[in-house]
Amino acid sequence: MTLRISIIGFGAVGQGVSEILAHTNHNNHNNHNQHPPISVVAIADSRGAVVDEGGVDLADTLQRKRSTGTVATADATGMTALDVIESVDHEIVVEATPTDITTGGIGLTHIRRAFECGRHVVTSNKGPLVVKYRELCELARANGLHFRFEATVGGAMPIINLSREVLAGNRILATEGVLNGTCNYILTRMDDEGVSYEHALGEAQELGIAEADPTADVDGIDTAAKIVILANSLFGMDVGYDDVDVTGITKITPEAFKLAKESGHTIKLIGEVQENRDSQDNRLRVAPKMVPRNHPLNIGGTFNLASIQTELAGRITIGGIGAGSIETASAILSDILWIAGVGGE
Ligand SMILES: NC(=O)c1ccc[n+]([C@@H]2O[C@H](COP(=O)([O-])OP(=O)(O)OC[C@H]3O[C@@H](n4cnc5c(N)ncnc54)[C@H](OP(=O)(O)O)[C@@H]3O)[C@@H](O)[C@H]2O)c1
Repeated sequence: MTLRISIIGFGAVGQGVSEILAHTNHNNHNNHNQHPPISVVAIADSRGAVVDEGGVDLADTLQRKRSTGTVATADATGMTALDVIESVDHEIVVEATPTDITTGGIGLTHIRRAFECGRHVVTSNKGPLVVKYRELCELARANGLHFRFEATVGGAMPIINLSREVLAGNRILATEGVLNGTCNYILTRMDDEGVSYEHALGEAQELGIAEADPTADVDGIDTAAKIVILANSLFGMDVGYDDVDVTGITKITPEAFKLAKESGHTIKLIGEVQENRDSQDNRLRVAPKMVPRNHPLNIGGTFNLASIQTELAGRITIGGIGAGSIETASAILSDILWIAGVGGE
């Protein structure tokens, strides 16, 4: 049976999903990782949609987006993402609109509606999970649907599904990680070259690693959002952004790196969740931390890395590329295939 999906939001991630689906479907006959054919039946961006129940032409849509700025075809110009979710027959909504961790943004409306319409959801959008994780999980469960969100934390690094599925039966006691590639790039440059925070940030902006407005990254907000998602999904907590103690990297000086180096350390922005079942005094924190130079968390560049402390298996450490169109889309594809039932074979 063909699995029909919609892609809501056609920026870096939505386009990455299209590119790999075009490729995966094309190669499906030749590889060993057989899965049911996946057909994208609708794509929406902020200006309109393209709908084709027989399967949207992905190459044509990518080309149109690049040349006109929108996926919209003349017959679906006024069609919104909500119209797609409600009226087009399909099984899975891939939600990849911008993150808003204060209100949940339009993504929250899309995901709620998808569940109400009987569609599974795969998302890379942190906002809805930071604001309404429990409500969305309950809505999915009440409707017998799947809610998958591996791409929200660490891009291609498979921390959520690894912890919940591969490590099933292991109680997770704590997790800590380097979860923001932009901060890690800046801190790596400060450590390697002895340059100031401002200098390293400017360099990251020139290379397109940091945004023109880097606040969400350098103030630790993005890492804190990921910590909320991990706390709720791996530890069963019911917490929000305000429960995280957050310090960013903007005040770190070259002198601090010098001192750290003298004692065999470096400085990393570490997000951590530590559960304290006895006192309910859980630790949810994002802060710059001294890390021994030979510690696994001393990873360089834009890489993400996380360490999970488990009850039975001890410490498991995983890493991966934390952002990027194709890398993030790879996490979305694996969630789509899991829903298709291939993941467990
Ligand atoms: N990029 C990454 O590496 C990465 C990694 C992990 C997670 N994420 C998360 O994944 C999500 C998507 O990221 P991105 O980098 O692809 O963002 P992006 O490049 O800014 O793309 C966002 C897309 O959402 C569309 N959009 C905005 N409002 C909409 C609405 N009301 N209805 C339909 N579409 C709407 C935009 O439309 P227009 O094209 O018309 O403006 C755009 O196509 C974000 O939540 C982000 O935090 C991204």
